Amino acid sequence: MGITRPREPIGIEKLDQILHGGFIRGKTYLIAGETGTGKTIFAMQFLLHGARMLDQPGLYVSGDEDIESLIEGLREFGWSIDELIDRGKINFLSLVSEFPDKFDSKALRIGVKSLVERIERWSKEYGVKRLVLDPIAPFIIGEERLNWIREYVRRLITEIERRIGCTTIMTSEIPTGSNALSRYGIEEFLASGVIILRIEKSIRGYRRVMVIRKMRWTPVKPVELEFDIVPGKGIVITEF
Ligand SMILES: Nc1ncnc2c1ncn2[C@@H]1O[C@H](COP(=O)(O)OP(=O)(O)O)[C@@H](O)[C@H]1O
Ligand SMILES: [Mg+2]
Repeated sequence: MGITRPREPIGIEKLDQILHGGFIRGKTYLIAGETGTGKTIFAMQFLLHGARMLDQPGLYVSGDEDIESLIEGLREFGWSIDELIDRGKINFLSLVSEFPDKFDSKALRIGVKSLVERIERWSKEYGVKRLVLDPIAPFIIGEERLNWIREYVRRLITEIERRIGCTTIMTSEIPTGSNALSRYGIEEFLASGVIILRIEKSIRGYRRVMVIRKMRWTPVKPVELEFDIVPGKGIVITEF
């Protein structure tokens, strides 16, 4: 008994404490939330922490944003990443150009095999230890059959964990105003852990909160953590 499996710190101080050191190495986690809630920042912080503090190379696979503008945004945010990119510690793979027509479901249906093979090639070349798929929806958009999507995500997670073995964050956009936990309402069953990011209205105005919804093999009580997004730092828990 006890917390014996190796953990990967996320780089969000109090969250790592609550999670007994971070995510379990080699497992897949889902960060879900409406647009603008901080999913991309959360995922980048995880990669940056690994690269800077632990010398772990990371790979960011973009499902919807152009890499150039993403990198530009990260610089504006105050994160110096150019040197890490030059040294191959942070790598980017864009699949956006492979979705020529977002409404053509066939064009969007990148097979699990080819996606995982490409990630595997990068991970071998750079020794990738941390992987981000942000967001996961474009890889499966256009498919309305839930069973198909469920099978796709399940195989994607299984193949990544089996063949690549890195610790993975997938993000999922929750449709604005819905009560769903994730885009399709199935990703949460397949991931080892789920963290929901929210913006809530309070008397003092809007506040950002993070809810740990599920954390397999980790004794955590359901908690709501208030946080800020601080330029140059990322997500900072303000209330604990
Ligand atoms: N330079 C910045 N300074 C302060 N806050 C920022 C800055 N850039 C982005 N943010 C905050 O981060 C939010 C976007 O986070 P992001 O991770 O892109 O969200 P998501 O991926 O969930 O859509 C913005 O809505 C904004 O509030
Ligand atoms: Mg985003």
